[in-house]
Amino acid sequence: MATSASNPLRLSSRTDHFVLPKQWAAMRKAKQQEEESGKAIIHFEKGDFQGDDLKPADNVIEAAQKALTDGHVRYVPGPGLPELRDAIAEEATKRGRPTEREEVLVTMGAKHALTQSLLTLIDTGDEVIFPNPGYPPDEFWITYAGGRVVYAPLVEPDYNFDLDSLKNLVSEKTKMLIINSPQRPNGMAVGDLDKLAEIAIENNIIVLTDEIFSHMVYNPDGHQTIAAQPGMADQSILVDTFSKTYRMTGFRIGWCVASKELITTMDIFQQNSVTNVPAFVQYAALEAITGPQDHVGEMVETLRRKRDYTVERLSKMDGVECQAPDGSFYVFPDIRGTGMNSQQFADYMVEQHQVAVVAGVAFGDQGEGHIRLTYALPDDQLEEGLDRIEQGLANL
Ligand SMILES: Cc1ncc(COP(=O)(O)O)c(C=O)c1O
Repeated sequence: MATSASNPLRLSSRTDHFVLPKQWAAMRKAKQQEEESGKAIIHFEKGDFQGDDLKPADNVIEAAQKALTDGHVRYVPGPGLPELRDAIAEEATKRGRPTEREEVLVTMGAKHALTQSLLTLIDTGDEVIFPNPGYPPDEFWITYAGGRVVYAPLVEPDYNFDLDSLKNLVSEKTKMLIINSPQRPNGMAVGDLDKLAEIAIENNIIVLTDEIFSHMVYNPDGHQTIAAQPGMADQSILVDTFSKTYRMTGFRIGWCVASKELITTMDIFQQNSVTNVPAFVQYAALEAITGPQDHVGEMVETLRRKRDYTVERLSKMDGVECQAPDGSFYVFPDIRGTGMNSQQFADYMVEQHQVAVVAGVAFGDQGEGHIRLTYALPDDQLEEGLDRIEQGLANL
């Protein structure tokens, strides 16, 4: 009898494009370096908070513990706890997109909301206009769905779309435009929201607006959503998360707001995949969004201080130019003056100076010439990491 070991694995052809996330290559390399050399690395490459001063708030942790003790350990309604959906509806309404409970879906993080949006809307042959540089998991699911990624370059120095070139990318097949504001990896806010909305409405393009850094904004105008533009409520999917505003990256909870019809369809997807977001996690999120908010402002001030320090230090280094981002916890300095490309820079720093950064090219070819650093680190590590980069450049 044949043994199963001799049979080749017959993977679906839909997995042909599967590769581990490009932007995490730096993390994998840093980990390997650490294991092999035994030398500690400063981790500027992670898209997460590090250290004790940027933990979730105590009331949120307590709410999760209490929910477990109170027995919230069973299945709950697919689209989310009604009281949590109401609180999210209020949040979206405050942003200028009047929202009802039925227009809210609670998801396993923003990533899951993005995935569900793409898999629910994109057909074979559909085109999706996608920012370059952008967020690679979106490309992954567009491709999985059989869609075509149409890259729209973000133009320096403020990383906005060039509206005329964007219009030229629109075809009859264009179904979606993805925007992310403040953007990753460069932290800049997307401008011309009114003009983008006009293009979307005129061409019946749905805008997937990823706003995970909505509360991590430093400029005085605060955060603006395209979903609040006239006519855009049903022409957009507003995605946000508890990961960043409430420092709850490991809880895996986010949300999206869209038309009732779309949310009803996405809820069918959700119920047939993950069923629901764990109840005790939803109770923690409910406490986060309805409880005291002063810690959010404190976090933004802490991050602003770290941002200013990071920008100031990097700007003084030879061959590096760094502008202050409008939001997020990333900087995206231009390193072309060092004579290295972004991957060479990242490899050199992690191999020779024990400091890990992400090569800008991991986010698209428009990211070449830049590196991405996360500055949500304890002050001493931030200082040490920047010292190491400075030293690395001096040694060239
Ligand atoms: C642009 C962008 N969208 C979505 C996500 C995913 O967020 P979540 O933790 O809510 O899944 C990230 C994570 O860093 C991100 O950078």
